[in-house]
Parts: sequence; structure tokens; C-alpha cells
Amino acid sequence: MFHQYFPICVALVVLVAGDNGNETTSDPKPSTKLPLVTTTSTPYTPSKDPITNLYALKSQDGNYCIMVKAALRLGFQYKNPDDKDLFGYVDIPGEKNGTLVTGNCSVVNNAQVLILKFLNNWSMNFTFKQNTTLKEYNLESISIKYDIQHNNQPFPDAKSLNGETTFAMEDGHVKVLGSYMCFSQRVFNINSNSSEKLGLMNLTTINEQYQAFVNVSEIFFSQAVKRCDQDSVSNLIPIVVGAALCALIVLVLVAYLIGRHHKRGYESV
Ligand SMILES: *[C@@H]1O[C@H](CO)[C@@H](O)[C@H](O)[C@H]1NC(C)=O
Ligand SMILES: *[C@@H]1O[C@H](CO)[C@@H](O)[C@H](O)[C@H]1NC(C)=O
Ligand SMILES: *[C@@H]1O[C@H](CO)[C@@H](O)[C@H](O)[C@H]1NC(C)=O
Ligand SMILES: *[C@@H]1O[C@H](CO)[C@@H](O)[C@H](O)[C@H]1NC(C)=O
Ligand SMILES: *[C@@H]1O[C@H](CO)[C@@H](O)[C@H](O)[C@H]1NC(C)=O
Ligand SMILES: *[C@@H]1O[C@H](CO)[C@@H](O)[C@H](O)[C@H]1NC(C)=O
Ligand SMILES: *[C@@H]1O[C@H](CO)[C@@H](O)[C@H](O)[C@H]1NC(C)=O
Ligand SMILES: *[C@@H]1O[C@H](CO)[C@@H](O)[C@H](O)[C@H]1NC(C)=O
Ligand SMILES: *[C@@H]1O[C@H](CO)[C@@H](O)[C@H](O)[C@H]1NC(C)=O
Repeated sequence: MFHQYFPICVALVVLVAGDNGNETTSDPKPSTKLPLVTTTSTPYTPSKDPITNLYALKSQDGNYCIMVKAALRLGFQYKNPDDKDLFGYVDIPGEKNGTLVTGNCSVVNNAQVLILKFLNNWSMNFTFKQNTTLKEYNLESISIKYDIQHNNQPFPDAKSLNGETTFAMEDGHVKVLGSYMCFSQRVFNINSNSSEKLGLMNLTTINEQYQAFVNVSEIFFSQAVKRCDQDSVSNLIPIVVGAALCALIVLVLVAYLIGRHHKRGYESV
């Protein structure tokens, strides 16, 4: 009667061992093949929930060198023409909704940059830096340029406001040919204007995965993944559940075996 519980126990142990939120050293073979996206132009419309998009930068030889997958949401504090304080979010659209993926695959000063252009004159730059000695790289910084215009998307009710903010990322270093992953929601607080609480306030990322300094003909992320701390915390739940379940099964099995042993003992008398 217990044999049916063992696969569950084994599966949980495998799941927990294989997904412990740490860097795995499996070889970087193609894993998740993602559909290619084509560019058409449709007007920008803000959504209720951020949509996960894939942005991949192609080099001149037709291979991909940087891939970023994420749902990206920017929070803005702004004023209307009557100086009333307002707050709103802008989701970075996908390529099908008008975002242009540009940049340069060439490595300059050990850096590679992916640029997203969206709305009117808005941009978001991802700067990746490699360390050739340690064979590692990291997402060094994100730079955001915004241009809120009255009577224009995304906040037609706003008084015009523009600015540019660069902030450092603390994701840590990834082995070259590996990728970084963070499924958890993260909110980066950015106060782009120290003199006044105005402009870009925060960046929310969900379902994030990125890889730079690659040269691949198809879009896939390496399975050698470095996970963020936030993902590790959520992984503690299956560890606890799995351990408790296994302990219970072992306990019941031991009790059953002892019981059977005793029974057999009486029978043989
Ligand atoms: C993750 O790996 C690093 C080094 O590879 C090690 O120092 C650390 O203790 C590991 N963390 C966990 C939670 O296993
Ligand atoms: C474009 O954006 C809208 C709303 O934000 C969303 O519903 C739709 O799925 C997006 N289209 C594509 C092709 O991503
Ligand atoms: C990319 O950068 C290299 C090196 O700086 C430069 O020679 C090349 O023209 C750039 N390409 C584009 C498309 O900007
Ligand atoms: C974008 O910026 C350029 C120069 O900075 C400007 O000439 C142009 O009008 C802007 N476009 C929009 C739609 O704001
Ligand atoms: C690479 O990392 C090593 C060790 O941390 C450091 O000494 C070196 O300056 C780094 N190289 C670059 C180009 O950042
Ligand atoms: C992004 O990079 C491009 C090209 O290097 C640069 O012209 C632009 O100012 C950058 N934008 C931001 C927001 O850093
Ligand atoms: C910062 O606030 C000042 C005062 O309201 C304003 O003039 C300036 O344009 C703001 N800068 C940015 C980048 O939002
Ligand atoms: C972004 O900042 C605004 C203003 O400080 C705040 O109200 C909002 O909750 C923040 N967004 C997130 C997702 O934390
Ligand atoms: C990328 O790989 C192609 C072959 O698939 C090769 O021709 C090209 O030179 C490589 N580019 C870089 C920057 O290594």
C-alpha cells in the first residue's frame, strides 16, 4: 500500500535537488526554444497586468548576442496641468506592439548594450559587462529615458515631463554561456528626481531571464542558470513539504515493517 507514495517522495526529492535556487553546472545546451517575433506597428495601449516579452538583439551575421525576457513595468509620479499629483504605470511593450530592439553586439570596453525604443523617444538600455579573466558577466546597469507629453500616450492628462535615469543592478555575476533567471516579482525603487518626488519612481520586473555575450542562431536560454535570492526563498516551501512527506512515509513504513515483524514472530510460535 505504500509503494504508490514512493514515486511522489522521489519526485519531490528530485524536484528539490534540481531546483535549489543555486547555480547549476549542467552544460549550456539549448533548452527553451522560444518563438521568433516579427515586427508590426500597432498603437500603444497600457495593460492591467504586465505581459512577459522577449527582446533579442541580432548581430550583423544574423546570430543573437543578447536575449532579455521579462515583464517590465515603470511607475511614474507626475502632475496634471492643474498641478495635481498623479501616479501611473507604463508597461514596456513587446516588439509586436511597437518596441524596437537595437544596440550593438560588438563588445566595447568589455560591455554589450541592448536598447529598447518605445512610445515617443523613450528608451531603456541594458548594459552588460564581462570579465574575461573570470569568464563571468553581469547586468551592470539599466538606463531609462522617458518623455511624458501632454495629450500623448501614456499619460495624456500629464504636464510634460522628461528625464533620464541610470541605476546599477545588483544581480551578481553569471558564468559566460550561462543565464540569469528571476521568476519572482522585484521592485526597484528609483527616485529620478532628488529635488522633487517627480518622474520615474520604480521599475517592476517579473519572469525575468537574460543572457548576454552569446552567439546563437536561435533564441534559447542556457540551462546553466543563476537564480535570484527571491526565487530561492519561494523554493523553501517545496523543500519543507517534500521533507515532511518523506519523513512521514518513512515513519509509516518503519511502523508497518515492525508490525509485520511482530505478527510473523507470533505466527511462527
Ligand atoms: C550555492 O553555491 C555556492 C558556491 O557554488 C555555495 O557557496 C552556496 O553555499 C550554495 N548555496 C546553497 C543554498 O546551496
Ligand atoms: C499588445 O498589447 C496589448 C495590451 O497591452 C496586449 O493585450 C496584446 O497581447 C499585445 N500584443 C502583442 C502581440 O504582444
Ligand atoms: C558597433 O560598434 C562597433 C565598434 O564600436 C562599430 O564599429 C559599429 O559601427 C557599430 N555598429 C552599429 C550598427 O552601430
Ligand atoms: C524625439 O526627439 C527628437 C530629437 O530629440 C525630436 O526632434 C522629435 O520631435 C522627438 N519626437 C517625438 C515624437 O517627440
Ligand atoms: C575581473 O575580476 C578580477 C577579480 O575580481 C579583477 O581583479 C579584475 O579587475 C576584473 N577585470 C575586469 C576587466 O573588470
Ligand atoms: C542608450 O544607448 C544609446 C546608444 O548608446 C544612447 O544614445 C542613449 O542615450 C542611451 N539611452 C539611455 C537612456 O541611456
Ligand atoms: C525634477 O524636478 C524639477 C522641479 O520640479 C524639474 O524642473 C525637473 O525637470 C525634474 N527633473 C526630472 C528628471 O524629472
Ligand atoms: C512605485 O512607487 C509608488 C510611489 O512611491 C508607489 O505608490 C507604488 O506602490 C510603487 N510600486 C510598487 C510596485 O511598489
Ligand atoms: C558567431 O558565429 C558565427 C557562426 O555561426 C560566426 O561566423 C561569427 O563570426 C560568430 N561571431 C562572433 C562575434 O563570434
